[in-house]
Amino acid sequence: MKVGDTHYRSIWFDAEADRIKIIDQRWLPHEFRVVDIDTLDEFATAIRDMWVRGAPLIGATAAYGIAKEMRRNPSDAALDAAWEQLHETRPTAINLRWALDEMRQVLAPLPEEARAGAAFAEAAKICDADVETNRMIGVHGLEIIRKIAATKKPGQPVNILTHCNAGWLATVDWGTATSPMYHAVEAGIEIQVWVDETRPRNQGAQLTSWEMNRHGIPHHLIVDNAGGHLMQHGQVDMVIVGTDRTTASGDVCNKIGTYLKALAAHDNDVPFYVALPSSTIDWTVNDGVREIPIEERDDREVTHVFGRLEDGSVGSVQISPDGTPGGNPAFDVTPSRLVTGLITERGVAEASREGLLELFPERRSAA
Ligand code: MRU
Repeated sequence: MKVGDTHYRSIWFDAEADRIKIIDQRWLPHEFRVVDIDTLDEFATAIRDMWVRGAPLIGATAAYGIAKEMRRNPSDAALDAAWEQLHETRPTAINLRWALDEMRQVLAPLPEEARAGAAFAEAAKICDADVETNRMIGVHGLEIIRKIAATKKPGQPVNILTHCNAGWLATVDWGTATSPMYHAVEAGIEIQVWVDETRPRNQGAQLTSWEMNRHGIPHHLIVDNAGGHLMQHGQVDMVIVGTDRTTASGDVCNKIGTYLKALAAHDNDVPFYVALPSSTIDWTVNDGVREIPIEERDDREVTHVFGRLEDGSVGSVQISPDGTPGGNPAFDVTPSRLVTGLITERGVAEASREGLLELFPERRSAA
């Protein structure tokens, strides 16, 4: 998407400089910083410390991490060690393991001298495929918004609530939850987006709001606790969120707080959609609540907030008393029964095993 007049992806290979470039998202919305990452340690740090984040983007970043490492050392041992080091950075988003597995599957059978070239080509393929996948999610999601606009909101904006950032910054481009919104605006459908701030790291406040601003999409930033109230008062026509891991039975694991939004949506008959690339489906998992590992992050993300200080600098402030420990589960699971539909690159599926298998019949034999 565009930043100013320039079209950006969230990660790219600058072939001339032989560098992998990323937008360092820790500084948004206050500063737009593009940085290089080069060593395996830098790739691991960028994912763990959330210079890049969002399930599809961490997969794409890991793919380029493997490619860079293959340049340095294309041995089997180096490939396995890089897979391990990158895999352990964040445990919940399945796209990370998916991208690492794709890379290893392509590279392992090749002779060492062919690996670096093939790795860069495969990482580029993963990125390009992500862009096309997300574009298609937008094409399918647009039809849902179009229908709501025509049947429930003629002449008025469709109010869409979203949680966290499942925007272009969380993917290589377009975003998942935001792709239908960008497509709706392009199609001339009026929308208004309620952006949950998404404590503790505030991806909604800092990233989704920034995206909406850049693209001129009408939006309001709300505190995480406001969603239920707005739904009770008819001010939310639909919810669209992303997911870090979707089970074969249609449960979705997304940023902490998503489950509460789904409960409120269910109680108020508000359609609750989840937008996802199929690389987010973990076909080996059925029961999301019991089987998906939930990342526990540093207490400091709860006890401190990051933003622009009154002196104009960017930094963090402590908001809790000295000595109060924080608890910081980063994701929660929304059971499939609370999900109206799964918007994928192949179409919209019912959130169930059968619904997913109808769209992905090649998985039937494994199911
Ligand atoms: O901790 P984050 O910022 O990586 O979490 C991101 C989310 O939860 C997104 O909603 C999810 O990755 C889907 S992104 C298209």
